[in-house]
Amino acid sequence: MNDNPTPTIPFIDLAAQRDRLQPGLDQAIAAVLGHGAFINGPEVKAFERDLAAFAGVAHAIGCGNGTDALFLPLLAHGVGAGDAVLVPSFTFVATAEVVVLTGATPVFVDVDAETFNVSAETMQKGVAEALRRGLRPRAMIPVDLFGLPADYDALNALADAEDMLVIADAAQSFGGRRGDRPVGSLAKITSTSFFPSKPLGCYGDGGAILTDDDDLADQLRSLRAHGGGKDKYDNVRIGVNSRLDTIQAAVLSCKLAILADEIVARGNAAARYNSAMPEAVMPPRIFNDAVSAWAQYTVRVANRDAVAAQLKTLGIPTAVYYPKPLHQQQAYRDYPVAGDGLPVSERLADEVLSLPMHPYLEDPVQQRILEGLRSVVTA
Ligand SMILES: Cc1ncc(COP(=O)(O)O)c(C=O)c1O
Repeated sequence: MNDNPTPTIPFIDLAAQRDRLQPGLDQAIAAVLGHGAFINGPEVKAFERDLAAFAGVAHAIGCGNGTDALFLPLLAHGVGAGDAVLVPSFTFVATAEVVVLTGATPVFVDVDAETFNVSAETMQKGVAEALRRGLRPRAMIPVDLFGLPADYDALNALADAEDMLVIADAAQSFGGRRGDRPVGSLAKITSTSFFPSKPLGCYGDGGAILTDDDDLADQLRSLRAHGGGKDKYDNVRIGVNSRLDTIQAAVLSCKLAILADEIVARGNAAARYNSAMPEAVMPPRIFNDAVSAWAQYTVRVANRDAVAAQLKTLGIPTAVYYPKPLHQQQAYRDYPVAGDGLPVSERLADEVLSLPMHPYLEDPVQQRILEGLRSVVTA
């Protein structure tokens, strides 16, 4: 017998989206099964064209996942030994992992306590740390954490002044905007992920790189296909195998068609959370001109683990992104840290809690979540 009187709430409800798209998805997948071009089929080109148009840039280059979408631009620019790449510590490991794989050194920087994003100030400390260690500050990878596009005007200005490359890690923010500029057009290079739970997610792995730079786009298309030249048996550079599958591209085209609408729905859900958050819980802050893609709705709360455990008993799922900053992880703790340490990242790791968030989250469910939260934090 289930002694839980109310059903468990999904943390992300992919089934609701599937129900909405089902006939179109079935048709799109059946079309791929029909023509059989599972690799580099026509759906890949069509999706890349539509994705670039959505983001307002000249090129979208599909690849195998969001991690490769970060790795390939570093490869294209020859980033390697002796170079420093500045990354937040409070992020998913992929952001730093790709740096180490090139032979360069990640320099961890802190984030802002309210937006959870890096700033030009925190990145500036990273530049100083790189120079202090005799490394060449070569690139920075700001992360649009939880869907909020970072402050690219200031970050691009710093990068220009320091002659550094900016690769926007927009794995969580595709569909977001700053003013009227969509994610994808905010930095010279933008990398995103189509991991199933992302705002634009497929049914497996996938990723893409967005840029206006024609030469870079050509290089990336070559790098993702074993460094191919005029064809794949003409190898002009060292590359990798990182393709977006045709079936995933077909799925993504269906989902891209409703992304703008889903971002509005996520924004509405975030506004409902914001307006009724208990006082003991700090809601996320976003920049005035930003539209967040709300990959996650993440609050800060004291006694986070106890709060999460009690919410679980009420059938309310939560998640902790991220329980340990990267500079404290076993694999990364010997890499440089900017300034006098990263106190904000360390504190956030103890306090953050992500609540259920998706475009199909309805008001009564949110009221149940908020009531549960209120009862737990005031108990
Ligand atoms: C911030 C960030 N960067 C990079 C990635 C890597 O994406 P993927 O899992 O598609 O490789 C993810 C997601 O998993 C992410 O959240």
